[in-house]
This record gives sequence, structure tokens and C-alpha cells, in this order.
Amino acid sequence: MGQRRTAIALGTLLLGAGGVATWVWQSRRNPSACPFGQRVFLDLPRPFLRRDDLLRILAPAPGERLLEVGPGTGYYTLDIAGHLEPGGQLDILDLQPAMLEETMRRAAAGGVRNVVPTPGNAQELPYPDATFDAAYLVATLGEVPGKDRALRELRRVLKQGGRLVVGEGQPDPHMVSLHDLREQAREVGLRYERHHGGRFGYLARFGVSEETP
Ligand SMILES: C[S@@+](CC[C@H](N)C(=O)[O-])C[C@H]1O[C@@H](n2cnc3c(N)ncnc32)[C@H](O)[C@@H]1O
Repeated sequence: MGQRRTAIALGTLLLGAGGVATWVWQSRRNPSACPFGQRVFLDLPRPFLRRDDLLRILAPAPGERLLEVGPGTGYYTLDIAGHLEPGGQLDILDLQPAMLEETMRRAAAGGVRNVVPTPGNAQELPYPDATFDAAYLVATLGEVPGKDRALRELRRVLKQGGRLVVGEGQPDPHMVSLHDLREQAREVGLRYERHHGGRFGYLARFGVSEETP
């Protein structure tokens, strides 16, 4: 009896592990945007992608114009926007207008007025060349099918001397490894500077290289 129970428990465990592995594999092969209906997960604490770590590595300054791609419901937005005052602006771009609406609702409730929303796709940014002092995206690059196109676009809209911070972390099935990110960024002319974190989550900072690739 005891052996039978152990065998059933082991079988269930193996089936579960197989299911999770298949889900992760499929999510990576066919990346897609986190549905608005699952936004409750975006408010959970992030031990590996903390707001104050993003602030430190991105170093937003008063008067700057920054871009956040994929703000979701604004987990990082309000904090960063506050550090651009006085005189600065945070543009936010998301595929899903509902995410932008929710972020703008939270910004209004928090008295934050320097956030400008634009619906759009990271693979085709609707901004002129050299518009931003810095850009960042957290838990978003992995959801973009054309990561190289998105990085190329980010490189294009950043000013010379501009900076890009990419955050990726567990338990996101789309998580991009730091190794792959560094390779892809180098190919589009983004120079790796440093990162914070490790295998469970990291924030990596890149600079715009002088040469256009
Ligand atoms: C997992 S959520 C992360 C949201 C937020 N950065 C956070 O950490 O809470 C990813 C966000 O990126 C957006 N997104 C996914 N693919 C995108 C794309 N190709 N262009 C613009 N936004 C995209 C999704 O709509 C979603 O709001």
C-alpha cells in the first residue's frame, strides 16, 4: 500500500514537472504579451527586480526624457517619473492600451503628471531617432518575438551617450538570459556596462556605442 502511494506521488510529481517544462518551452518558442486579465501578478513583490535597484542602475535625473517599454500596470513607472521632476518626462509604450490606461489611472491617483502614454509595438517604436536620454524595460523583452528588432529600435531612439536598462527575472517563463541579452545587444551597437543581480533576476545596463552597427 505504502509503495503504491509513493509510486502515485512520484508519478504525479513527474507529470507536473513535465507540464511546467513544456509550458516554459512553448512560452519561449512563441512569446506573447502577458494578458491584461493576469495583471494581478504584476503587483506581486519582486525580490530579484526591486524598484530601488532599478533606480540605482538607471539613475534618472531631473529634466531628462525617458522611455519605458511595456510598463504593464506601472509597477516601476510612478517611482521613475518622480525622479525626472522638475521638467522631465516619462514616455510609456505598451501593446495593450488597457495596461496604459491602468498605469495612467494610478499616476493620476498618485498626483504624477509627467507620464505620456503611447500604444505601440517595441519592434517599431513611434519616436524619432535620438529622442531619449535613457530607456528601460522590465519583464518585457522576453515577450517580444523580435528581440533583435526591439533592441535595434531602442538603440535608434536613444541619444548618443544614452543608457538602456533591461530587467529579466524568474519565475517568468519568457526570461531572457543575461548571456543572450549581452550577445544581442552587442550586435545592435549597445555596449554592456554592468549589471545587478544574478541567475534568478538581473538588471543590466548598456550604453550607446559611438559606431552605428
Ligand atoms: C510581464 S508585463 C511586465 C510589466 C511591467 N514592466 C512590470 O514589470 O510589472 C510585460 C508588458 O509588456 C507589454 N508588451 C509585451 N510585448 C510588447 C511589445 N512587443 N511591445 C510593447 N509592449 C509589449 C505587455 O503588454 C505587458 O504590459
